[in-house]
Parts: sequence; structure tokens; C-alpha cells
Amino acid sequence: MIIVLFGKPGAGKGTQAPLLAAALGVPTLATGDELRAARRNGTPLGLEAQAYMDRGDLVPDAVILGIIKAALAEPRHANGVLLDGVVRTVPQAEGLATVTAELGRQVDAVLCFDIDDEEIVRRLAGRTVCETCQTPYTGREPGSKCDKDGGTLVRRKDDEPDAIRNRLAVYEQQTAPVLRWYREHGTRVAIIDAVGSVQDVTARALGALAR
Ligand code: AP5
Repeated sequence: MIIVLFGKPGAGKGTQAPLLAAALGVPTLATGDELRAARRNGTPLGLEAQAYMDRGDLVPDAVILGIIKAALAEPRHANGVLLDGVVRTVPQAEGLATVTAELGRQVDAVLCFDIDDEEIVRRLAGRTVCETCQTPYTGREPGSKCDKDGGTLVRRKDDEPDAIRNRLAVYEQQTAPVLRWYREHGTRVAIIDAVGSVQDVTARALGALAR
């Protein structure tokens, strides 16, 4: 089972991913988290990605496809995976289709978390994340501690107003066309209302997958 979690920055993909993963019994793979870990570790991948991420631009497709190809070959992803933050361009959709076909697999569904820009700005302006496990929080000050692992909560550089505006523009230009690509290639796309309690959104997503 390969499920793509899709939606604007701040739509709630990172919040829903572990909840859906627990319900479905499959791991998650978040390219944003992988890239931020590479930055913290000062690897060549992290250094290459840093400037793109801070501006709110997309990291080049070849870099992302390298991450995906390596991850899908890992035994822990053999029975399924929830992809959080991939796919963001049509070339990534094409590349992922090639990689999955080579493995005799396919993307089974795309869950698109639907939300308007006003709510996005409100959410991201109030977000802090754990610098170790990346769990997002709303209404917690930077410097507070994460409930899950005690890590320090920080503001993401790409949650500054200019970067949020750029991320929303990049989404419209480069990411939104991916939904049409999946529909045209026969993959199920479910639109999930992403406004409401976290639990309600999880229930909507699981309901859509069960249909
Ligand atoms: P990434 O980390 O994937 O960022 P993003 O897609 O912009 O998504 P966010 O993490 O901002 O939001 P989210 O949808 O996960 O929402 P969250 O659950 O946190 O990517 C970062 C960067 O890495 C990209 O800009 C790019 O540079 C690069 N990158 C990554 N993947 C790439 C790719 N495939 N190709 C190219 N470049 C790539 O929720 C947001 C806030 O809302 C939180 O505070 C949360 O607590 C709150 N919230 C969540 N749900 C609810 C709810 N139901 N009600 C109220 N508040 C809620």
C-alpha cells in the first residue's frame, strides 16, 4: 500500500501522517523531515537543500527522487508507506511511477487535505516544531519542550511571512497540477476537508480510504 498525503503547506499532512500510519499499520516517509535531518547533520544533501528550503522553494526533483528510490528499497517500506510531502511536481509523479513500477508496486491513492490560504497562514504563524522528532504544535512558544521526546520546540525559518507566501505560490504553480496528473493516470484522488478537529480529519481520511 502506497498512499500519497497531499496538500498545501500547513494543511496538516505532518499532523495526520503518524495518526493514519498507526491506524493503517504502515510507516511514514516525510521528505521535509528527511531534508531537515540532513541539514542538522551537515551532510552534502542537507547543505544543498538548505537555501531552497529557507526560501520556501522546492528542492530539485533529482534530489527528491534519490531519497524516494532509496527509501522504497528499504525492507521496512516493503508492505506499505505513507508519503508525506511527496509528490510535489509532475516530474516527481512520473519518477515515482517509474520507481514503483520497477518494484512491481504502484501509488494506490492520493489523499488531498483541502484548506484555504487564510487558515494556512493562521496555522503556520502559530506553529512550533520539535527540533528532534519534528512533531508540530500550535500555541506553544519556542523553547518549550516536546511532549513526545522532550526535544526543544523551534520556529521553522520557512514559517516566516515571506516564505509562507512563496510556498503557497509554489504550491499553485508546481504542485497543484500533480492532482490532475494522478487523475489522468487512473489513480484514486480523495479530497479531504482539512478543517475541523485533528480527530475528525483523521476519521474523514480513513473513511475515504475505506470507500
Ligand atoms: P515540508 O516539511 O513537507 O513542509 P510543507 O509541505 O510545506 O508542509 P508543512 O510541514 O508546512 O505543513 P503540514 O501540511 O505538514 O502541516 P502540519 O501538520 O505541520 O517541506 C518543507 C520544505 O522541504 C519544502 O518547502 C521544500 O523546500 C522541501 N521539500 C520537501 N519535500 C519536497 C519535495 N517532495 N519536493 C521538493 N522540495 C521538497 O500542520 C500545520 C500547523 O497546523 C501545525 O501547527 C499543526 O499543529 C496545526 N494543525 C494541524 N492540523 C490541524 C487542525 N485540524 N486544526 C487546527 N490546527 C491544525
